[in-house]
Amino acid sequence: MTESGFLHRTRASYDALAEDYAEWIRTELAAKPLDRAVLSGFAELVREADAGPVADIGCGPGRLTAHLDGLGVPVFGIDLSPRMIAVARRLYPALRFAEGSMIALDLEDGSLGGLLAWYSIIHVPRERLPEVLAEFHRVLAPGGYLQLGFQVGDEPLHRSEAAGHEISLDFHRCRPDQITELLNQAGLVPYARMVREPDADGNFPETTPQAFLLARKPQS
Ligand SMILES: C[S@@+](CC[C@H](N)C(=O)[O-])C[C@H]1O[C@@H](n2cnc3c(N)ncnc32)[C@H](O)[C@@H]1O
Repeated sequence: MTESGFLHRTRASYDALAEDYAEWIRTELAAKPLDRAVLSGFAELVREADAGPVADIGCGPGRLTAHLDGLGVPVFGIDLSPRMIAVARRLYPALRFAEGSMIALDLEDGSLGGLLAWYSIIHVPRERLPEVLAEFHRVLAPGGYLQLGFQVGDEPLHRSEAAGHEISLDFHRCRPDQITELLNQAGLVPYARMVREPDADGNFPETTPQAFLLARKPQS
């Protein structure tokens, strides 16, 4: 079967952007205390549940993989873009990174205690999200947690240029209630949500609200 066009375009775009993206995003987490709070809560819950390692899916240059590692979480990263994986391996040589797509993960059923998808489901068209969430449900162990981060909105954004590179990237913004409904349909139980309002200050201005949803796979 041939690969979907959106996967091909997303991979090629992030391959082109990998080095510039890694440099640009390097200090972002330090500037976002509430994002760190979300990640700390996720890390503590996953450690307490002790149901298996965490996969950071759509890990990009690995900054969140490294952040979770620093919080004492057994974690590895997966990304669609080989160039991103190469950057992550170079920046964090002690951590494990692999190429892969969230549409079909090369992971055993029930093998993860946690799954982080931080601004990575945004590149999956809305109609393919049920498939992705079914895959997340499959790979999570009973009692495992899923942490999502994404931009809130209704209209997709298309970018054909970034940092001087020609790209073709779609950003599919969603409403938290839409994702919550899809989580329920996938058998993942919503646990917590935070929505940050748009923030024009600082080096990382945001024009849309940012949503962070935590869900859990039931114990049985
Ligand atoms: C906006 S970046 C976020 C990277 C990282 N999570 C961070 O916050 O720095 C989106 C990442 O998701 C990856 N990605 C997009 N679609 C994917 C898919 N279907 N499977 C795995 N990774 C994907 C891209 O290659 C890119 O590295």
